[in-house]
Amino acid sequence: MESGLDHRSARALLEWHIALGADECIQDAPINRYALPDAAPVSVRKAAPVAEPLRAQIVPMVEVDTVAAAQRAAAAAGDLAGLRAALEGFEHCDLKRGARNFVFADGLAGARVMVVGEAPGREEDLEGRPFVGQAGQLLDRMLAAIGLARDAREAERGVYITNVLPWRPPQNRDPEAGEIAMMRPFVERHIALARPEVVILMGNHACDAVLQRKGILRLRGQWAEAVGVPVMPMTHPAYLLRNPAAKREAWADLLAVQARLRGGA
Ligand code: URA
Repeated sequence: MESGLDHRSARALLEWHIALGADECIQDAPINRYALPDAAPVSVRKAAPVAEPLRAQIVPMVEVDTVAAAQRAAAAAGDLAGLRAALEGFEHCDLKRGARNFVFADGLAGARVMVVGEAPGREEDLEGRPFVGQAGQLLDRMLAAIGLARDAREAERGVYITNVLPWRPPQNRDPEAGEIAMMRPFVERHIALARPEVVILMGNHACDAVLQRKGILRLRGQWAEAVGVPVMPMTHPAYLLRNPAAKREAWADLLAVQARLRGGA
């Protein structure tokens, strides 16, 4: 029988019925017992096949190791298109069910610089592209200040942009530790497949995902390494919009990236 319920809701409803004591499935179609002949022998009324109790039919909910599932899915991706498909098809992150769009990446795959942000916000969720809202516009201006552009078609000037989470968290809440742990294998594989020369980590959650470290105000401006690639943690553009005084340090961090690309320290 078709129903508008999804798997989880149908299961929850079934379990609720069982908790109330309705643990036996009689048959699919209802029986109008008033229409049964009065004289029918009891054995005839019982003739309809009685299904085995529902309790026995319910397979216990198996605890899925979502991080292991993410590791397998990410490792199996041989290129960026494969990774995109693996992430888009990943069913263990509940954020997927609340988001309008899947937001994978933007800019030039193969660019020398890759930016890893946090998660799509409202505009990104609507458009299906990372960093297109106010923080994204500031990011574009910051990158332009060191000669980079997401729409550039040469690796030299291009930028490849992604986020830790590909689905918008409800009300733009912070990503949860479990969500970051689940997405970490995908982010690491993303970096390995995009093969940038430098990764810029925008904000605390990107540092948590890629470096497994937090405390952006301490980490920013210090080169680190992840997946064999030099990474520069920076304060997030959204933070810079709220704290314009921090732009001076962000500018210093951008200059450090530029110097590295030019072959300096
Ligand atoms: N902030 C992010 O970290 N990523 C986006 O895509 C937009 C805002």
